[in-house]
Amino acid sequence: MSTSHKDDFDVSEQNLSAKRDGFSSGFGVLAATLGSAVGLGNIWKFPYLTGANGGAGFLVVYFVATLLVGLPVMIAEITLGRHAKANPITALQTLAPKGQPWWLIGAFGMLASFLILSFYSEVVAWVFAYVAKAIGGSILSSDRQVTEAAFGALISDPLQSLLWQWLVLIVMGGILLLGVTKGIEALTKKLMPALFLLLLLLCGVSLSLDKAGEGLSFLFRPDFSKITASVVLTAMGLAFFKLSIGMGTMITYGSYFRADQNIPQTTFRVMSADLCVSLLAGIAIFPAVFTFGFEPAAGPALVFITIPAVFSQIPMGQVLMIMFFVLTAIAATGAMLSLMEVPVLIIHERLGLSRPQAVSITLALLALTGSTCALTNSTLADFKLFGLNMFDLFDFVSSNIILPAGGIFVALFIGWVWGFDKLRHALSNQGTLHNEKLARIVFFLLRYVSPLLILVVMLKGLKLF
Ligand code: TRP
Repeated sequence: MSTSHKDDFDVSEQNLSAKRDGFSSGFGVLAATLGSAVGLGNIWKFPYLTGANGGAGFLVVYFVATLLVGLPVMIAEITLGRHAKANPITALQTLAPKGQPWWLIGAFGMLASFLILSFYSEVVAWVFAYVAKAIGGSILSSDRQVTEAAFGALISDPLQSLLWQWLVLIVMGGILLLGVTKGIEALTKKLMPALFLLLLLLCGVSLSLDKAGEGLSFLFRPDFSKITASVVLTAMGLAFFKLSIGMGTMITYGSYFRADQNIPQTTFRVMSADLCVSLLAGIAIFPAVFTFGFEPAAGPALVFITIPAVFSQIPMGQVLMIMFFVLTAIAATGAMLSLMEVPVLIIHERLGLSRPQAVSITLALLALTGSTCALTNSTLADFKLFGLNMFDLFDFVSSNIILPAGGIFVALFIGWVWGFDKLRHALSNQGTLHNEKLARIVFFLLRYVSPLLILVVMLKGLKLF
């Protein structure tokens, strides 16, 4: 390391020496980061948003947003996190010049994490409940009325919704108390491939259905007539949501990265794998949607009502469906843990409370905010703000406002404050990797393209411009 850079690296050296949990191996890093990215965003949100926004056209916009905005912002977050080795608030405080409020990115991130966790924990609750329902056997049917009634009965029952959510919170709390390395790494590493294989099998089944062709052309033959500004914003919000960026999750995960991890390469791999899982989920679902007469625009219910229909077509469908919901629950758990890690680490490092205390506080707050989402389809069905119920409101505000805004500021921070030299140095692992050209491209995207693009999409999508 040249002496001229000494000042920049003091921060990380200092913090490295403090005892801090971290990922133990290169593969562990990839698996854990993937564990954060792959979750309900892929299996639940991606199919339902694609269905609701016209199919392939939405997919194309989503893909472009991922490349031009998602990848660079994800690289930026991981880099900042690894460099500062701290929670998002402290990270930006130490990296920014004195007196500049960049740490607000971390503060808003914490707010976003509660908004997202509030509805996310409820969807995980549905998945847990579906494991039980799958074991009971009553939902295995290709009859639209049967699967829709089963889902409706679950979400409109306030007690069931709450109890399943509490179970989810208790399970997450237990895992988090085991610590970063053991808890998150071990779980995600082992089970990701199994989910992938099961999705492949589902795709095979779905592709053999009568109207598979219709499903595939819905998913892959673009019709841009349905693309409005708000659809573009939704697609971009989904890109942020799926890559877990815009609120400090990747800053937090970056802080556990090892010094020799190749950040751009890891990011690219995570993005590609994440995309594959989403596409597989889409291919598993849409042929069935068209074959059995479901509504592509069914909304958040889509996966829960169509997947049982696919499994009803194969021998041992019930056993495989149980496996599917168990694996989905595990993938969702990995993602949810990464969301919780943001407030937990902030409370732990900023307020000086122990990790168990930080976990308990996070869970207690979440039980409160989350219950509004659990009760959205029952007790609180008529309670709306800005015309949206709490579930939709939390989702909208986080994905379409806070995450993209967080992305703008992370990009601006690297592009205009941190600067090219530090980025290049960090991306090349202090000169050991030869990726200067790549660093230039990433820097250019972060300095000009991503912030402008996000801003325009947000202003247009929110009809402010
Ligand atoms: N990416 C996860 C999923 O697809 C959800 C998630 C985890 C997330 N951490 C995040 C979304 C941080 C936004 C921000 O399910």
